[in-house]
Amino acid sequence: MSIQNKINEIKQSFGSDLDTLNIGKIDFQSIYYKFLGRKGLISELYPMLAKVDNSKKPQWGNDINNLKKYIEDTLSKFNPNTNNKKKEHQLIDLSLPELYLNKGSIHPITLIIEEIQNIFKKIGFSSIYGPEVDTDYYNFEALNIPKHHPARDMQDTFYTTDSCLLRTHTSGSQIHFMENTQPPIRILSPGRVYRNEDISVRSYCLFHQIEGLYVDKNVSFSDLKGTLDYFAKEFFGHNTKTRFRPSYFPFTEPSAEMDVYWGLNNESDYRITKGTGWLEILGCGMVDPEVFKSVKIDSKKYRGYAFGLGIERIAMLKYGIDDIRILFDGDVRFMRQFK
Ligand code: DAH
Repeated sequence: MSIQNKINEIKQSFGSDLDTLNIGKIDFQSIYYKFLGRKGLISELYPMLAKVDNSKKPQWGNDINNLKKYIEDTLSKFNPNTNNKKKEHQLIDLSLPELYLNKGSIHPITLIIEEIQNIFKKIGFSSIYGPEVDTDYYNFEALNIPKHHPARDMQDTFYTTDSCLLRTHTSGSQIHFMENTQPPIRILSPGRVYRNEDISVRSYCLFHQIEGLYVDKNVSFSDLKGTLDYFAKEFFGHNTKTRFRPSYFPFTEPSAEMDVYWGLNNESDYRITKGTGWLEILGCGMVDPEVFKSVKIDSKKYRGYAFGLGIERIAMLKYGIDDIRILFDGDVRFMRQFK
């Protein structure tokens, strides 16, 4: 068969296959290999080309190439891969450096909150969340801090209306939860709190606390001490020493503050512990019967303890951060260090 006849035959065959491909009777793969495959009809033309007169070779070569291109282009409309197969392959440059995937990191405050939640989870505490915009009643009144109580001066409050405010501590979560739940209660309540304070290296208008509350029959102050000592050892290391100092909070009686022994190994230890080696990390105490009264829990039947931890303080100690403001800047160069 002459090369001309062969080309005509291929054209015809392709035309009728194309019709069947159009109406979906023949699959793309088989038509592709029939014409363009390594042993396809087009490949049969090359040995024929080798046998024609040298003078006619460029002409026939050109015709074969045109036919091949026509078939490739037509088929690529049915499967875009036909056309791209070769190009994609050529586009891969193995010497290029890998793409840098910009993975985010978890904020150190979140890391600390999660770590503390995990420590308390092991002894049965679950987490609840209170509102950040709250009322005077939940933030103060129900916690035994009536209007004009001097303890209100301890916390400079942002009011949104006369009776609404940005919570100054997480202690209000205790009231929200106890209003709806009867003991036994064993909860943590982490979150943001706000105080109208001058911004400096040590204080910010916004920070984080974790509130803890345990209410059951026969809860004693030694349960409180045992639990917080366990926490300090889990968090700061098993040789950590703790001590409790008497203190005052309107919602607990008796009240205390817990210190951990930080040591006096260098100049910065002297500075942050004010030369004592001890560092205050939380406030705590036995829930005041007045608080139980406002949530209608029988204080003759139940007793409880509560505590409140400041997270920024702990984060600054743990990561050696000396300016609290960097925790709120959202600077990626700082954040990247916590991957
Ligand atoms: N709410 C207190 C504060 O912001 C911290 C605190 C102290 C919470 C004693 C407590 C507690 O639950 O018992 O300073």
